[in-house]
Amino acid sequence: MITEVVVLPKGKPAYAVLITSKIDFEALQSYVEDKEVLIVTNTTIAELYLPRLERAIEKHYFKCAHCILNDGEVYKNSDSLNTIYQYLLERNYTRHCVLIALGGGVIGDITGFAAATYQRGVSVIQIPTTLLSQVDSSVGGKTAINHPLGKNMIGAFFQPKLVITAAEFLTTLPQREFFAGMAEVIKYGCIVDVDFFVWLEKNVVLLQQRDSKALIYAIAKSCELKAQVVARDEEEKTDVRALLNFGHTFGHAIECCQNYQGLKHGEAVAVGMVMAAQLSVELGFIKEAVVARIISLLQAFSLRVMLPGGFTKNEFILAMLRDKKNTTTGITFIVLDGIGRAKVDKSVSKDRLSQFLEQYF
Ligand code: NAD
Ligand code: GLY
Repeated sequence: MITEVVVLPKGKPAYAVLITSKIDFEALQSYVEDKEVLIVTNTTIAELYLPRLERAIEKHYFKCAHCILNDGEVYKNSDSLNTIYQYLLERNYTRHCVLIALGGGVIGDITGFAAATYQRGVSVIQIPTTLLSQVDSSVGGKTAINHPLGKNMIGAFFQPKLVITAAEFLTTLPQREFFAGMAEVIKYGCIVDVDFFVWLEKNVVLLQQRDSKALIYAIAKSCELKAQVVARDEEEKTDVRALLNFGHTFGHAIECCQNYQGLKHGEAVAVGMVMAAQLSVELGFIKEAVVARIISLLQAFSLRVMLPGGFTKNEFILAMLRDKKNTTTGITFIVLDGIGRAKVDKSVSKDRLSQFLEQYF
C-alpha cells in the first residue's frame, strides 16, 4: 500500500511524497525515462542501497552515473558540492538531467542545492533514507550547504519533482540516528498539532520498536503537517514557515559551536526545543509543566535535553546572531503558547538572551 502526501507550494508544480512500507522504486521510471541521471549518495548508503536503485532504473535511463560523497555533516560543504558539479561537467550532463539524492538530510540538502544551481536548475528527486530526512528535509524544498561560520548559510529554495520514502530504509538506521529523527517528529506535535503530540506519547513503545505501521503513520502525519505549512509560505516570507524552526535557533548554534562534529542535527534540535520551551516559560507564555511534558517525550527516545559543554556563552550567542530568521532589529525565536501552538517572538534583546543563557553556562 502506498500512502501519498501531495505538496503544493503556491505558484509551483505540485509533487508527491510516496510513503511505503517496503522499498519501491517503481514510481521513478517515468521520471528517469531516456534521461541523464546522476545518483548522489554517500559511502555508507551506497553499500546498502545503491545497487538496488541502479537495478531498478537501469532499463529506463539514457545514461546514469553515481557520485559517492564522504559521510557526515562535516562534508556538507562547498567541496562536496564541487564534487557533484565536477561529475556532471566531466560527463557532459545537460540541463535536462535528473539528480537523485539517495540518503539522509545531508545528501538531500547538498544534492538539492546542486540541482538548484547546476546550469541554473535541473530536476531533483529525493529518496530519503533516515527518519529525519523522511519527515522533514526531503519535503519543502530547502536546500543548502554549511559555511564554517554558520549552518545552512548558502542555499536555495528548490522543490523536488518527487519524494520516495520507505519505512524499510529505517531497518538499517543506527539507533542514535533513528532517535535524532524522532526529535523532528516531536517538533510537529509541539508546534502545530497537539493531537499528534498525544498520539506520540501513547505510541512511544511501538515507535521505539520501529513498528512499520506506526512509523508510516508518524512519517505521513509529519509530511502532511509540513506540506500544509509549505503550501502557505514556501519561502519563509511570512512567519508561517519560520515555525518549523522551533528549537533550531539554539540547535543550529550548538551544531556550529561544535564545528558540526558534536551532536547530530536532530539531537541539537531536541536540546534547542527544550531551551525554546524554557524561554517560553521565562516570557510568561507557558507553564513549567509543558516543558516537563516535552522533556519526557524527548527522553523516551534517549534524546539529550541539556546544553553540551565545550564552548562559551559568547561563542554561542555569536552563532545565534547569525541565524537566518534574524532581522536587522534582532533575534527571532519560535516560542510556544501551549503544546501544538507555536508563535514567533522578536522581543528578546541580546542582553535578555545573555541573562537567560546564564543558567546553562
Ligand atoms: P545524515 O544525512 O548525516 O544521516 C545520518 C547518518 O545515517 C549518516 O551517517 C548516513 O550515512 C546514515 N544513513 C542514512 N540512511 C541510512 C540507512 N537507511 N541505514 C543506515 N545508515 C544510514 O543526517 P540526517 O539526520 O538525515 O540529516 C541531517 C541534515 O538535514 C542536517 O544537515 C540538517 O541541516 C538537514 N535538514 C534539512 C532540512 C531541510 O528542510 N532541508 C530539515 C531538517 C534537517
Ligand atoms: N526544517 C525547516 C523547514 O523546512 O522550514
